[in-house]
Amino acid sequence: MVKICCIGAGYVGGPTMAVIALKCPAIEVAVVDISASRIAAWNSDQLPIYEAGLDEIVKQCRGKNLLFSTAVEKHVAEADIIFVSVNTPTKTRGLGAGKAADLTYWESAARMIADVSKSNKIVVEKSTVPVKTAEAIEKILTHNSKGIKYQILSNPEFLAEGTAIEDLFNPDRVLIGGRETAEGQKAIQALKQVYANWVPEDRIITTNLWSAELSKLAANAFLAQRISSVNAMSALCEATGANISQVAHAVGKDSRIGPKFLNASVGFGGSCFQKDILNLVYICECNGLPEVANYWKQVIQVNDYQKNRFVNRVVSSMFNTVSGKKIAILGFAFKKDTGDTRETPAIDVCKGLLGDKAHLSIYDVQVTEEQIQRDLSMNKFDWDHPIHLQPASPIGVKQVSVAWDAYEATKGAHGICILTEWDEFKTLDYNKIFDHMHKPAFVFDGRNVVDAEKLRQIGFIVYSIGKPLDAWLKDMPAVT
Ligand code: NAD
Ligand code: UDX
Repeated sequence: MVKICCIGAGYVGGPTMAVIALKCPAIEVAVVDISASRIAAWNSDQLPIYEAGLDEIVKQCRGKNLLFSTAVEKHVAEADIIFVSVNTPTKTRGLGAGKAADLTYWESAARMIADVSKSNKIVVEKSTVPVKTAEAIEKILTHNSKGIKYQILSNPEFLAEGTAIEDLFNPDRVLIGGRETAEGQKAIQALKQVYANWVPEDRIITTNLWSAELSKLAANAFLAQRISSVNAMSALCEATGANISQVAHAVGKDSRIGPKFLNASVGFGGSCFQKDILNLVYICECNGLPEVANYWKQVIQVNDYQKNRFVNRVVSSMFNTVSGKKIAILGFAFKKDTGDTRETPAIDVCKGLLGDKAHLSIYDVQVTEEQIQRDLSMNKFDWDHPIHLQPASPIGVKQVSVAWDAYEATKGAHGICILTEWDEFKTLDYNKIFDHMHKPAFVFDGRNVVDAEKLRQIGFIVYSIGKPLDAWLKDMPAVT
């Protein structure tokens, strides 16, 4: 029986291994992590992450060919194939701080593999890493090898949160990069056989190591660039009276461009896009390519601009101050159908409004109060560095309260900001909400989820990203 061990029981390691266990009953899968609380949650009825369909798969396989454990060394020693799916956050200190990937967690995993291994291993990079990381990992492993042979493969993960199980069941492609030697090709085939249990062969792409590593960074950069492109256009739409939904529809009808991933928003969030583009920028700079670095940097700059622009729109519309006013924040997760808040645009928007002394009442379908308070008291990039983190302040951010539902959050508010596109925000009783708000009552829709015309008929002043401005907003100072 082939044994797989995955180091890192996070958003990628957990669902990916659960699907491998489900689709490959002949493979024994152990998912290990240094975080005892995370492993305990994987072994409980309350999994540490929320993904549609994940609970059922874990229930079906756990205790059969899927196990979650903190016995990292034992399971690594026993495995034939080791996936490394640890976090690779942006460095917060030292050389490359604010841009380069922090490979501390990866390096410690590699050193541990070298320490405990007693048989030959295939080591698979599942984490997103800078191009050429496999070379560094190879050096750590071979210089500490005690005669054991290692093959390093790059097998980046393309799942998106909220649709992880769907994406894993039916991936657009599985990418496997390896050395162009006979041993390298043999290792590629071994991993290919695992995926071939459910992925059609023509969707399994094999490349050299560096192409696989770079393709992951490139794919995320292209996706994020699409959002920054549509968001940049949304600002021009507001200035000219064009409508971003109509423009995106017309542009996306070109089969060379395609209709997906063209929704204007308050900005993209999530643990990957910003981190991976900053990493790409750093790699370009290190390779003497400043023009290429600057090109990709713009994607992040437009995203920051979009979040600032939203905050400025809120403040300028509400008579240039939100000091002491209650603003309801509907949605805190970085997208719908997930409880993940990593790099959510809501953090920057909330901090911007708090900077103008607003009182925030936040409601999200999935995110807990503790998480919100922690996110709002943390510094940029600190969230993915557990070793640097202080526990969240017990008092929390004083101007922030967390509500149980949208009606409580909006009661007595002067304005509403919609920051996540949760479906339930489309069907709220906005008549009831209007009745319990201060007047004039504002809605700032950062995800274009509400029917602005209907809300205007109720009496709201409505701002929707990239849509023609109503008369009130046109009369207010210009927003940049
Ligand atoms: P995560 O933070 O949810 O999980 C990483 C886990 O690794 C944590 O539980 C941590 O405790 C554990 N860990 C760290 N060092 C360890 C060690 N030495 N030994 C054992 N466990 C260790 O991260 P994630 O979101 O699952 O992302 C993992 C990687 O996958 C990152 O490189 C990320 O860029 C990439 N990725 C993420 C997504 C996504 O949607 N989240 C998608 C594609 C790729
Ligand atoms: C992304 C990539 O899609 C995935 O392939 C990769 O493996 C990890 O990074 P994820 O961050 O989970 O996945 O979600 P995604 O659906 O890509 O959304 C990222 C952000 O962009 C979210 O904040 C989302 O709301 C925003 N977005 C997405 C838009 O603003 N407009 C869009 O049209 C699409």
